Amino acid sequence: MRHTRVKDLLNSPTLLHEVNAKGWVRTFRNNQFIALNDGSTINNIQCVVDFENTSEEILKRITTGAAISVTGDLVESKGAGQKYEIQVKKIEILGDSDAEKFPMQPKKHSLEFLRENAHLRVRTNAFGAIMRVRSVLSFAVHSYFQQKGFVYVNTPIITGADAEGAGEMFQVTSLPLDNLPKNEEGNIDYKKDFFGKHTNLTVSGQLEGETFAMALGQIYTFGPTFRAENSNTSRHLAEFWMIEPEVAFNNLDDNMDLAEDFIQYVIKYAIDNCADDLKFLEGRLLEEEKSKPQAERSEMTLLEKLNFVLENNFKRVSYTEAIDILRDSTPNKKKKFQYIINEWGADLQSEHERYLVEKHFKSPVILFDYPANIKAFYMRLNEDGKTVRAMDILFPGIGEIVGGSQREERFDVLVEKMKALGIDEEELWWYLDTRRFGSAVHSGFGLGFERLVLFVTGMTNIRDVIPFPRTPQNAEF
Ligand code: 4AD
Ligand code: MG
Repeated sequence: MRHTRVKDLLNSPTLLHEVNAKGWVRTFRNNQFIALNDGSTINNIQCVVDFENTSEEILKRITTGAAISVTGDLVESKGAGQKYEIQVKKIEILGDSDAEKFPMQPKKHSLEFLRENAHLRVRTNAFGAIMRVRSVLSFAVHSYFQQKGFVYVNTPIITGADAEGAGEMFQVTSLPLDNLPKNEEGNIDYKKDFFGKHTNLTVSGQLEGETFAMALGQIYTFGPTFRAENSNTSRHLAEFWMIEPEVAFNNLDDNMDLAEDFIQYVIKYAIDNCADDLKFLEGRLLEEEKSKPQAERSEMTLLEKLNFVLENNFKRVSYTEAIDILRDSTPNKKKKFQYIINEWGADLQSEHERYLVEKHFKSPVILFDYPANIKAFYMRLNEDGKTVRAMDILFPGIGEIVGGSQREERFDVLVEKMKALGIDEEELWWYLDTRRFGSAVHSGFGLGFERLVLFVTGMTNIRDVIPFPRTPQNAEF
Protein backbone atom coordinates (compact mmCIF):
# COMPACT_ATOMS: atom_id res chain seq x y z
CA MET A 1 0.00 0.00 0.00
CA ARG A 2 1.34 3.41 -1.03
CA HIS A 3 1.63 5.83 1.87
CA THR A 4 -0.02 9.24 1.88
CA ARG A 5 1.85 12.36 2.98
CA VAL A 6 0.79 13.75 6.34
CA LYS A 7 0.07 17.12 4.71
CA ASP A 8 -2.38 15.51 2.30
CA LEU A 9 -4.04 13.54 5.08
CA LEU A 10 -4.52 16.66 7.19
CA ASN A 11 -5.93 18.51 4.18
CA SER A 12 -8.17 15.65 3.08
CA PRO A 13 -11.66 16.88 2.13
CA THR A 14 -13.23 13.71 3.53
CA LEU A 15 -12.67 11.00 6.10
CA LEU A 16 -10.79 8.07 4.60
CA HIS A 17 -10.88 4.34 5.03
CA GLU A 18 -7.53 2.51 5.31
CA VAL A 19 -4.72 4.97 4.85
CA ASN A 20 -1.03 4.45 5.37
CA ALA A 21 1.34 7.05 6.77
CA LYS A 22 5.08 6.82 7.23
CA GLY A 23 7.23 9.18 9.23
CA TRP A 24 9.17 9.79 12.43
CA VAL A 25 7.75 9.77 15.93
CA ARG A 26 7.94 13.17 17.57
CA THR A 27 6.27 12.14 20.84
CA PHE A 28 4.35 9.19 22.24
CA ARG A 29 1.97 9.97 25.09
CA ASN A 30 0.07 7.66 27.48
CA ASN A 31 1.06 4.58 25.50
CA GLN A 32 -1.61 5.71 23.07
CA PHE A 33 -1.05 8.97 21.16
CA ILE A 34 1.73 9.22 18.58
CA ALA A 35 2.57 12.61 17.08
CA LEU A 36 3.89 11.61 13.66
CA ASN A 37 5.79 13.93 11.33
CA ASP A 38 6.99 13.17 7.82
CA GLY A 39 8.44 16.56 6.84
CA SER A 40 5.65 17.42 4.40
CA THR A 41 4.30 20.00 6.85
CA ILE A 42 5.10 21.49 10.22
CA ASN A 43 1.96 19.80 11.56
CA ASN A 44 2.03 16.32 13.03
CA ILE A 45 -0.72 13.83 12.55
CA GLN A 46 -2.03 12.20 15.71
CA CYS A 47 -2.08 8.41 15.48
CA VAL A 48 -4.16 6.67 18.12
CA VAL A 49 -2.80 3.25 19.03
CA ASP A 50 -5.11 0.52 20.22
CA PHE A 51 -2.77 -0.31 23.09
CA GLU A 52 -4.83 -3.17 24.44
CA ASN A 53 -4.32 -5.07 21.22
CA THR A 54 -0.74 -4.04 20.56
CA SER A 55 2.12 -6.05 21.97
CA GLU A 56 4.20 -4.63 24.80
CA GLU A 57 7.27 -5.16 22.65
CA ILE A 58 5.97 -2.89 19.86
CA LEU A 59 4.73 -0.23 22.28
CA LYS A 60 8.21 -0.02 23.79
CA ARG A 61 9.72 0.59 20.38
CA ILE A 62 7.52 3.63 19.62
CA THR A 63 10.12 6.15 20.77
CA THR A 64 10.99 9.70 19.77
CA GLY A 65 12.92 9.60 16.51
CA ALA A 66 11.82 6.12 15.42
CA ALA A 67 10.66 5.63 11.83
CA ILE A 68 7.27 3.94 11.70
CA SER A 69 4.50 2.98 9.33
CA VAL A 70 0.89 3.13 10.49
CA THR A 71 -2.20 1.89 8.73
CA GLY A 72 -5.74 2.71 9.77
CA ASP A 73 -8.74 4.92 9.18
CA LEU A 74 -8.60 8.68 8.96
CA VAL A 75 -11.31 9.73 11.40
CA GLU A 76 -12.47 12.91 13.06
CA SER A 77 -10.33 13.64 16.06
CA LYS A 78 -11.93 13.68 19.46
CA GLY A 79 -9.03 15.62 20.92
CA ALA A 80 -8.54 19.36 20.62
CA GLY A 81 -6.04 20.89 18.20
CA GLN A 82 -6.58 18.71 15.17
CA LYS A 83 -9.38 17.94 12.76
CA TYR A 84 -8.35 14.39 11.92
CA GLU A 85 -6.40 11.56 13.43
CA ILE A 86 -5.50 8.05 12.36
CA GLN A 87 -7.20 5.23 14.25
CA VAL A 88 -4.32 2.79 14.01
CA LYS A 89 -5.06 -0.81 12.99
CA LYS A 90 -1.56 -1.87 12.12
CA ILE A 91 1.77 -0.45 13.17
CA GLU A 92 5.21 -1.37 11.94
CA ILE A 93 8.53 -0.15 13.32
CA LEU A 94 10.71 0.66 10.30
CA GLY A 95 13.72 1.92 12.21
CA ASP A 96 14.25 1.97 15.96
CA SER A 97 15.58 5.02 17.75
CA ASP A 98 17.40 4.73 21.04
CA ALA A 99 15.27 7.06 23.14
CA GLU A 100 18.06 7.76 25.63
CA LYS A 101 20.65 8.65 23.03
CA PHE A 102 18.56 10.48 20.43
CA PRO A 103 19.79 14.09 20.59
CA MET A 104 16.53 15.70 19.43
CA GLN A 105 14.53 15.21 22.61
CA PRO A 106 11.05 16.74 22.65
CA LYS A 107 12.16 19.83 24.56
CA LYS A 108 13.73 23.18 23.76
CA HIS A 109 17.34 22.99 22.57
CA SER A 110 19.79 25.86 22.20
CA LEU A 111 20.61 26.92 18.64
CA GLU A 112 24.29 26.21 19.38
CA PHE A 113 23.48 22.62 20.33
CA LEU A 114 21.37 22.24 17.21
CA ARG A 115 24.20 23.56 15.01
CA GLU A 116 26.45 20.83 16.38
CA ASN A 117 23.78 18.38 15.28
CA ALA A 118 23.00 19.90 11.90
CA HIS A 119 22.30 16.43 10.48
CA LEU A 120 19.45 15.95 12.97
CA ARG A 121 18.25 19.51 13.66
CA VAL A 122 16.15 19.37 10.51
CA ARG A 123 13.93 16.95 12.44
CA THR A 124 12.82 19.78 14.72
CA ASN A 125 9.85 22.02 13.97
CA ALA A 126 11.94 25.16 13.57
CA PHE A 127 14.50 23.71 11.17
CA GLY A 128 11.90 21.79 9.19
CA ALA A 129 10.07 25.10 8.72
CA ILE A 130 13.23 27.04 7.83
CA MET A 131 14.33 24.50 5.23
CA ARG A 132 10.87 24.33 3.62
CA VAL A 133 10.76 28.14 3.44
CA ARG A 134 14.27 28.14 1.94
CA SER A 135 13.14 25.68 -0.73
CA VAL A 136 10.04 27.73 -1.59
CA LEU A 137 12.14 30.90 -1.81
CA SER A 138 14.54 29.18 -4.25
CA PHE A 139 11.63 28.26 -6.42
CA ALA A 140 10.29 31.82 -6.21
CA VAL A 141 13.64 33.16 -7.45
CA HIS A 142 13.47 31.02 -10.57
CA SER A 143 9.77 31.70 -11.00
CA TYR A 144 10.30 35.49 -10.94
CA PHE A 145 13.10 35.57 -13.48
CA GLN A 146 11.66 32.87 -15.74
CA GLN A 147 8.31 34.71 -15.93
CA LYS A 148 10.20 37.80 -17.03
CA GLY A 149 12.13 35.91 -19.71
CA PHE A 150 15.56 35.98 -18.02
CA VAL A 151 17.95 33.20 -19.05
CA TYR A 152 19.38 31.11 -16.19
CA VAL A 153 23.15 30.87 -16.57
CA ASN A 154 25.43 28.48 -14.70
CA THR A 155 28.64 30.44 -14.31
CA PRO A 156 31.80 28.48 -13.39
CA ILE A 157 32.59 27.58 -9.81
CA ILE A 158 36.30 27.23 -10.52
CA THR A 159 37.75 30.38 -12.01
CA GLY A 160 40.98 32.34 -12.43
CA ALA A 161 39.28 35.70 -11.81
CA ASP A 162 38.78 37.60 -8.56
CA ALA A 163 35.60 39.44 -9.48
CA GLU A 164 35.42 41.54 -6.35
CA GLY A 165 39.16 42.25 -6.19
CA ALA A 166 39.08 41.66 -2.47
CA GLY A 167 41.47 38.71 -2.52
CA GLU A 168 39.24 36.58 -0.31
CA MET A 169 39.55 33.41 -2.31
CA PHE A 170 39.91 29.71 -1.68
CA GLN A 171 42.59 28.37 -3.95
CA VAL A 172 41.88 25.30 -6.07
CA THR A 173 44.92 23.18 -6.84
CA SER A 174 45.97 19.60 -7.45
CA LEU A 175 49.64 20.39 -6.80
CA PRO A 176 51.27 18.39 -4.00
CA LEU A 177 51.30 20.86 -1.10
CA ASP A 178 54.32 19.24 0.54
CA ASN A 179 56.40 19.38 -2.64
CA LEU A 180 55.42 22.37 -4.77
CA PRO A 181 57.06 22.71 -8.20
CA LYS A 182 59.05 25.93 -8.56
CA ASN A 183 59.88 27.95 -11.66
CA GLU A 184 63.22 29.58 -12.47
CA GLU A 185 62.42 32.61 -10.29
CA GLY A 186 61.79 30.28 -7.37
CA ASN A 187 58.01 30.90 -7.33
CA ILE A 188 55.35 28.20 -7.42
CA ASP A 189 55.01 26.97 -11.01
CA TYR A 190 51.28 27.07 -11.66
CA LYS A 191 51.90 25.93 -15.23
CA LYS A 192 52.25 22.51 -13.66
CA ASP A 193 48.92 22.82 -11.83
CA PHE A 194 45.77 21.09 -13.08
CA PHE A 195 44.52 24.04 -15.12
CA GLY A 196 47.97 25.34 -16.03
CA LYS A 197 47.25 28.48 -14.05
CA HIS A 198 46.35 29.78 -10.60
CA THR A 199 42.65 29.11 -9.90
CA ASN A 200 40.19 29.63 -7.07
CA LEU A 201 36.57 29.05 -6.09
CA THR A 202 34.40 31.84 -7.42
CA VAL A 203 33.46 34.82 -5.23
CA SER A 204 30.84 35.93 -7.75
CA GLY A 205 29.54 34.88 -11.17
CA GLN A 206 29.14 38.48 -12.25
CA LEU A 207 31.99 38.86 -14.73
CA GLU A 208 31.01 35.75 -16.67
CA GLY A 209 27.36 36.76 -16.25
CA GLU A 210 28.05 40.11 -17.92
CA THR A 211 29.39 38.38 -21.05
CA PHE A 212 26.11 36.46 -21.30
CA ALA A 213 23.98 39.56 -20.69
CA MET A 214 25.75 41.15 -23.65
CA ALA A 215 24.27 38.44 -25.84
CA LEU A 216 21.11 37.18 -24.18
CA GLY A 217 19.95 40.54 -22.84
CA GLN A 218 18.73 39.53 -19.42
CA ILE A 219 20.25 36.71 -17.45
CA TYR A 220 20.51 35.52 -13.86
CA THR A 221 22.77 33.17 -11.96
CA PHE A 222 21.87 31.30 -8.78
CA GLY A 223 24.68 29.27 -7.37
CA PRO A 224 27.19 28.73 -4.60
CA THR A 225 29.80 31.39 -3.90
CA PHE A 226 32.88 31.15 -1.72
CA ARG A 227 34.67 33.73 0.38
CA ALA A 228 37.66 33.12 2.56
CA GLU A 229 36.98 36.19 4.66
CA ASN A 230 37.77 35.46 8.25
CA SER A 231 34.68 37.16 9.62
CA ASN A 232 33.03 35.16 12.34
CA THR A 233 29.77 37.11 12.32
CA SER A 234 26.12 36.14 12.32
CA ARG A 235 25.84 37.36 8.71
CA HIS A 236 28.84 35.80 6.98
CA LEU A 237 29.37 32.34 5.57
CA ALA A 238 32.41 31.01 3.73
CA GLU A 239 30.04 29.19 1.35
CA PHE A 240 26.80 30.93 0.49
CA TRP A 241 24.36 31.11 -2.39
CA MET A 242 24.02 34.19 -4.51
CA ILE A 243 21.52 35.31 -7.11
CA GLU A 244 23.00 37.63 -9.71
CA PRO A 245 20.81 39.11 -12.43
CA GLU A 246 22.52 41.13 -15.17
CA VAL A 247 20.58 43.21 -17.68
CA ALA A 248 21.75 44.87 -20.89
CA PHE A 249 20.58 48.48 -21.39
CA ASN A 250 19.52 48.89 -17.73
CA ASN A 251 20.86 51.91 -15.87
CA LEU A 252 21.15 52.18 -12.09
CA ASP A 253 17.54 53.31 -11.62
CA ASP A 254 16.27 50.35 -13.64
CA ASN A 255 18.54 48.16 -11.53
CA MET A 256 17.02 49.47 -8.29
CA ASP A 257 13.50 48.97 -9.66
CA LEU A 258 14.34 45.38 -10.61
CA ALA A 259 15.88 44.58 -7.23
CA GLU A 260 12.95 46.02 -5.31
CA ASP A 261 10.34 44.29 -7.43
CA PHE A 262 12.23 40.99 -7.23
CA ILE A 263 12.59 41.07 -3.44
CA GLN A 264 8.94 41.97 -2.98
CA TYR A 265 7.87 39.16 -5.29
CA VAL A 266 9.82 36.43 -3.51
CA ILE A 267 8.70 37.58 -0.06
CA LYS A 268 5.08 37.67 -1.22
CA TYR A 269 5.53 34.21 -2.70
CA ALA A 270 6.74 32.89 0.65
CA ILE A 271 3.84 34.52 2.52
CA ASP A 272 1.38 32.95 0.09
CA ASN A 273 2.98 29.50 0.06
CA CYS A 274 4.45 28.97 3.53
CA ALA A 275 1.60 30.08 5.80
CA ASP A 276 1.93 27.30 8.40
CA ASP A 277 5.71 27.48 8.58
CA LEU A 278 5.78 31.27 8.84
CA LYS A 279 3.11 31.21 11.55
CA PHE A 280 5.28 28.81 13.51
CA LEU A 281 8.41 30.92 12.96
CA GLU A 282 6.51 34.03 14.00
CA GLY A 283 5.66 32.33 17.30
CA ARG A 284 9.25 31.23 17.74
CA LEU A 285 10.46 34.78 17.25
CA LEU A 286 7.92 36.16 19.74
CA GLU A 287 9.21 33.68 22.32
CA GLU A 288 12.80 34.66 21.60
CA GLU A 289 11.96 38.36 21.86
CA LYS A 290 10.53 37.83 25.33
CA SER A 291 13.99 37.03 26.62
CA LYS A 292 15.29 40.42 25.41
CA PRO A 293 15.07 43.70 27.31
CA GLN A 294 11.94 45.68 26.36
CA ALA A 295 13.89 48.36 24.48
CA GLU A 296 15.45 45.83 22.13
CA ARG A 297 12.25 44.03 21.27
CA SER A 298 10.88 44.43 17.79
CA GLU A 299 7.70 46.47 17.45
CA MET A 300 6.50 44.21 14.66
CA THR A 301 5.76 40.52 14.40
CA LEU A 302 7.44 38.49 11.65
CA LEU A 303 4.49 38.75 9.27
CA GLU A 304 4.10 42.44 9.97
CA LYS A 305 7.76 42.92 9.04
CA LEU A 306 7.34 40.95 5.82
CA ASN A 307 4.21 42.85 4.87
CA PHE A 308 5.89 46.13 5.68
CA VAL A 309 8.49 45.41 2.99
CA LEU A 310 5.74 44.65 0.48
CA GLU A 311 3.69 47.74 1.26
CA ASN A 312 6.42 50.36 1.43
CA ASN A 313 8.82 51.58 -1.22
CA PHE A 314 12.47 51.22 -0.31
CA LYS A 315 13.96 54.62 0.57
CA ARG A 316 16.54 55.67 -2.03
CA VAL A 317 19.32 57.71 -0.48
CA SER A 318 22.70 58.75 -1.87
CA TYR A 319 25.85 57.86 0.02
CA THR A 320 26.52 61.58 0.48
CA GLU A 321 23.12 62.14 2.14
CA ALA A 322 23.67 59.08 4.29
CA ILE A 323 27.01 60.40 5.52
CA ASP A 324 25.35 63.70 6.50
CA ILE A 325 22.66 61.84 8.43
CA LEU A 326 25.20 59.63 10.18
CA ARG A 327 27.54 62.49 11.02
CA ASP A 328 24.71 64.35 12.74
CA SER A 329 23.27 61.27 14.45
CA THR A 330 23.17 60.89 18.22
CA PRO A 331 25.30 57.70 18.38
CA ASN A 332 27.96 59.41 16.28
CA LYS A 333 28.00 62.57 18.41
CA LYS A 334 27.96 60.56 21.65
CA LYS A 335 30.68 58.29 20.26
CA LYS A 336 28.45 55.25 20.59
CA PHE A 337 29.47 53.92 17.18
CA GLN A 338 32.56 51.79 17.18
CA TYR A 339 33.62 53.59 13.99
CA ILE A 340 32.95 57.32 14.19
CA ILE A 341 31.93 58.95 10.92
CA ASN A 342 33.99 62.09 10.43
CA GLU A 343 34.25 62.62 6.75
CA TRP A 344 32.95 61.82 3.34
CA GLY A 345 34.67 58.74 1.95
CA ALA A 346 34.37 56.56 5.04
CA ASP A 347 33.31 52.97 4.39
CA LEU A 348 30.02 52.18 6.12
CA GLN A 349 30.09 49.49 8.78
CA SER A 350 27.11 47.36 9.62
CA GLU A 351 26.40 49.49 12.73
CA HIS A 352 25.90 52.50 10.39
CA GLU A 353 23.79 50.56 7.94
CA ARG A 354 21.57 49.32 10.71
CA TYR A 355 21.23 52.78 12.23
CA LEU A 356 20.00 54.14 8.89
CA VAL A 357 17.50 51.33 8.38
CA GLU A 358 16.30 50.60 11.89
CA LYS A 359 16.50 53.98 13.60
CA HIS A 360 16.51 56.72 11.00
CA PHE A 361 14.39 55.60 8.04
CA LYS A 362 12.65 52.63 9.69
CA SER A 363 12.36 51.02 6.26
CA PRO A 364 14.54 49.16 3.76
CA VAL A 365 17.01 51.59 2.21
CA ILE A 366 18.83 51.65 -1.12
CA LEU A 367 22.09 53.57 -0.82
CA PHE A 368 23.64 54.65 -4.12
CA ASP A 369 26.53 56.62 -5.61
CA TYR A 370 29.30 55.47 -3.30
CA PRO A 371 32.86 56.79 -3.37
CA ALA A 372 34.77 55.01 -6.14
CA ASN A 373 37.65 53.96 -3.94
CA ILE A 374 35.58 51.82 -1.55
CA LYS A 375 33.87 49.87 -4.35
CA ALA A 376 34.90 47.27 -6.96
CA PHE A 377 36.68 48.18 -10.20
CA TYR A 378 33.81 47.42 -12.59
CA MET A 379 31.38 50.08 -11.36
CA ARG A 380 30.54 53.02 -13.61
CA LEU A 381 32.28 56.25 -12.74
CA ASN A 382 29.95 59.24 -12.34
CA GLU A 383 30.54 62.61 -13.98
CA ASP A 384 31.89 63.97 -10.67
CA GLY A 385 34.90 61.68 -11.13
CA LYS A 386 34.79 60.48 -7.52
CA THR A 387 31.61 58.44 -7.07
CA VAL A 388 30.41 55.30 -8.84
CA ARG A 389 26.96 54.06 -9.78
CA ALA A 390 26.84 51.52 -6.97
CA MET A 391 23.84 50.49 -4.93
CA ASP A 392 23.51 48.53 -1.71
CA ILE A 393 20.14 47.48 -0.33
CA LEU A 394 20.00 47.51 3.45
CA PHE A 395 17.40 45.57 5.43
CA PRO A 396 16.29 45.77 9.05
CA GLY A 397 18.05 43.24 11.24
CA ILE A 398 20.26 42.17 8.34
CA GLY A 399 22.19 45.15 7.02
CA GLU A 400 23.36 44.67 3.43
CA ILE A 401 21.22 42.17 1.55
CA VAL A 402 22.04 43.28 -2.02
CA GLY A 403 25.14 44.78 -3.62
CA GLY A 404 25.00 45.92 -7.23
CA SER A 405 25.85 48.59 -9.75
CA GLN A 406 25.66 50.00 -13.21
CA ARG A 407 28.79 48.68 -14.92
CA GLU A 408 31.56 50.73 -16.48
CA GLU A 409 30.83 50.20 -20.17
CA ARG A 410 33.53 52.57 -21.49
CA PHE A 411 36.62 50.60 -22.47
CA ASP A 412 39.14 53.36 -21.77
CA VAL A 413 37.73 54.31 -18.39
CA LEU A 414 37.61 50.66 -17.34
CA VAL A 415 41.19 49.97 -18.40
CA GLU A 416 42.43 53.05 -16.61
CA LYS A 417 40.64 51.96 -13.44
CA MET A 418 42.12 48.47 -13.66
CA LYS A 419 45.59 49.90 -14.13
CA ALA A 420 45.21 52.12 -11.10
CA LEU A 421 44.13 49.12 -8.99
CA GLY A 422 46.82 46.82 -10.37
CA ILE A 423 44.32 44.42 -11.95
CA ASP A 424 45.94 42.41 -14.74
CA GLU A 425 44.35 43.34 -18.08
CA GLU A 426 45.67 40.19 -19.69
CA GLU A 427 43.99 37.98 -17.13
CA LEU A 428 40.66 39.66 -17.88
CA TRP A 429 41.08 39.92 -21.66
CA TRP A 430 37.76 38.17 -22.19
CA TYR A 431 35.94 40.55 -19.85
CA LEU A 432 37.40 43.54 -21.67
CA ASP A 433 36.19 42.04 -24.97
CA THR A 434 32.61 42.86 -23.92
CA ARG A 435 33.71 46.52 -23.98
CA ARG A 436 35.57 46.09 -27.27
CA PHE A 437 32.72 44.54 -29.21
CA GLY A 438 29.30 46.15 -28.92
CA SER A 439 29.60 47.56 -25.44
CA ALA A 440 26.42 49.03 -23.92
CA VAL A 441 25.04 50.35 -20.68
CA HIS A 442 24.22 47.42 -18.40
CA SER A 443 23.58 46.76 -14.72
CA GLY A 444 23.15 43.98 -12.23
CA PHE A 445 23.25 43.03 -8.60
CA GLY A 446 23.91 40.17 -6.22
CA LEU A 447 21.44 39.09 -3.55
CA GLY A 448 22.83 36.94 -0.75
CA PHE A 449 20.28 34.14 -0.60
CA GLU A 450 20.91 33.24 3.06
CA ARG A 451 20.44 36.85 4.10
CA LEU A 452 17.07 36.77 2.39
CA VAL A 453 16.18 33.51 4.16
CA LEU A 454 17.27 35.11 7.45
CA PHE A 455 14.90 37.99 6.90
CA VAL A 456 11.94 35.87 5.87
CA THR A 457 12.29 33.30 8.67
CA GLY A 458 13.09 35.86 11.38
CA MET A 459 16.19 33.91 12.37
CA THR A 460 19.18 35.92 13.59
CA ASN A 461 22.21 33.77 12.77
CA ILE A 462 23.04 32.93 9.14
CA ARG A 463 24.32 29.51 10.28
CA ASP A 464 20.72 28.57 10.97
CA VAL A 465 19.32 29.11 7.48
CA ILE A 466 21.68 26.94 5.40
CA PRO A 467 21.66 23.15 5.82
CA PHE A 468 25.35 22.70 6.67
CA PRO A 469 27.10 26.02 7.34
CA ARG A 470 30.76 26.55 6.43
CA THR A 471 32.46 29.14 8.62
CA PRO A 472 36.03 29.65 9.87
CA GLN A 473 37.20 26.50 11.71
CA ASN A 474 33.99 24.68 10.84
CA ALA A 475 33.28 22.32 7.95
CA GLU A 476 31.66 19.42 9.81
CA PHE A 477 29.23 17.19 7.90
O1 4AD B 1 28.23 42.95 -2.34
P1 4AD B 1 28.80 41.71 -2.95
O2 4AD B 1 30.20 41.36 -2.60
O3 4AD B 1 28.60 41.89 -4.51
C1 4AD B 1 29.06 41.06 -5.48
O4 4AD B 1 29.59 40.00 -5.32
C2 4AD B 1 28.69 41.55 -6.87
N1 4AD B 1 29.55 40.83 -7.83
C3 4AD B 1 27.23 41.32 -7.14
C4 4AD B 1 26.79 41.79 -8.48
O5 4AD B 1 26.74 42.99 -8.71
N2 4AD B 1 26.48 40.88 -9.40
O6 4AD B 1 27.89 40.46 -2.57
C5 4AD B 1 26.51 40.46 -2.89
C6 4AD B 1 25.67 39.99 -1.73
C7 4AD B 1 25.81 40.85 -0.48
O7 4AD B 1 24.97 41.98 -0.55
C8 4AD B 1 25.37 39.89 0.61
O8 4AD B 1 23.95 39.79 0.66
C9 4AD B 1 25.90 38.57 0.09
O9 4AD B 1 26.10 38.70 -1.30
N3 4AD B 1 27.16 38.20 0.73
C10 4AD B 1 27.29 37.25 1.67
N4 4AD B 1 26.37 36.44 2.25
C11 4AD B 1 26.80 35.56 3.17
N5 4AD B 1 28.09 35.43 3.54
C12 4AD B 1 29.05 36.22 2.99
N6 4AD B 1 30.32 36.07 3.35
C13 4AD B 1 28.66 37.19 2.01
N7 4AD B 1 29.32 38.09 1.27
C14 4AD B 1 28.39 38.70 0.51
MG1 MG C 1 28.71 44.39 -0.97
